[in-house]
Amino acid sequence: MSTLEVRNLVKDFRVRSGFRRSTLRAVDDVSFTLEPGKTIAVVGESGSGKSTVARMIAKLETPSSGEVLLDGKPSATRGRALDAYRHQVQMVFQDPFASLNPFHTVGHHLERPLRIHKVARSRADVERRVHDLLERVNLTPADVYAAKQPHEMSGGQRQRVAIARALAPGARFLVADEPVSMLDVSIRLGVLNLLARLQREENLGVLYITHDLATARHFSDEIIVMLRGEVVERGPSDQVILDPQHEYTKLLLGAAPDPENQGRLRAEVRAELAAAAGGAVTGSRDRFGTRDL
Ligand SMILES: Nc1ncnc2c1ncn2[C@@H]1O[C@H](COP(=O)(O)OP(=O)(O)O)[C@@H](O)[C@H]1O
Ligand SMILES: [Mg+2]
Repeated sequence: MSTLEVRNLVKDFRVRSGFRRSTLRAVDDVSFTLEPGKTIAVVGESGSGKSTVARMIAKLETPSSGEVLLDGKPSATRGRALDAYRHQVQMVFQDPFASLNPFHTVGHHLERPLRIHKVARSRADVERRVHDLLERVNLTPADVYAAKQPHEMSGGQRQRVAIARALAPGARFLVADEPVSMLDVSIRLGVLNLLARLQREENLGVLYITHDLATARHFSDEIIVMLRGEVVERGPSDQVILDPQHEYTKLLLGAAPDPENQGRLRAEVRAELAAAAGGAVTGSRDRFGTRDL
C-alpha cells in the first residue's frame, strides 16, 4: 500500500534568548499516515510546529528523532534514494511571490524539474509536459501562461504554477504549508478547489497545513490539531469540528471568524489562546498576529 507516514517525529531547536541557551521542542512525537486520494489537515496557531513537520517531511529539516516512511520504508536522507523520494513528495509553500524566480518564465520553472528529475526525454517531450501541467492547474491557454513571467500573474496564478511545479516530477504526495493564507480571500477557494480536484482525480495525498478550520473541515478527511509541538486532538474532520474534545480545539473554533461572534468575544478567546500557547517559546514574533486567526 502506498503511504506517506511520519512516526514519532521530534524536532528540537537550540535557541538563544539573551545570554541563555536552551532547547526548544518544536515538534513532539507526531505520528500520522497519509494515503493517496486523502487529505489530512494540520491545524494550530502560528508557532505550534506545523511548518517544522512539513519541512521534515520535505527533507528540508532533519528530525531529532522519529522517521518519515514512504510506502512503509524509511525514506532516504541522501543520494539517489533521496532524489527518488523528492520526486514523489513535494512541497507547496505559503508565499507564491517568494517561491518563483522573477527573472524566469513559467515555462522555465516547469521545465527545470522535468529535466532535473529526468522526467522528460526530448525537447518535444518537455514542451508537451509543460503544456499538460499548465492545463492540469487550469492555467489556459497553456502556451500563453508558459511565456509569462511571475510579475505578470496574480498570487493565485503563481500558486497554481507552484503546484504545477510540485507535480512536475510525478509527485504522489503534496505538502501544502498554508498554501492560500497569503492570497486574496476571493481567490483562495479556487486554489483549494484545484488541490481537491488533484487529490480526487489524480489520487494525490495532500497534507494541508492551515489556520483555517472552515477550509480544513471542507477540504480534508482528517484533522490533526497541534499545540506547542504536540498533537492534542485528531479525528475525522466533521467530528473534530462538530464535537471537539480538547479545550484548545474549542478555543480555536471560538476564534474562527464568525459574523455573529466578533468583537469582544473574539478578543477574549484570543487572550485565552495566547495563554494556552504560552510557554512554548518566548519571542515568537507573529504567534498571535491577526494574520493567524
Ligand atoms: N530554525 C529554527 N530555529 C529555532 N527555532 C525554530 C526554527 N524553526 C522553527 N522554530 C520554532 O519552532 C516553533 C514551531 O515553528 P513552526 O514549525 O514554524 O510553527 P508553525 O508553522 O505552526 O507556525 C516556533 O516556536 C518557532 O519559533
Ligand atoms: Mg508555519
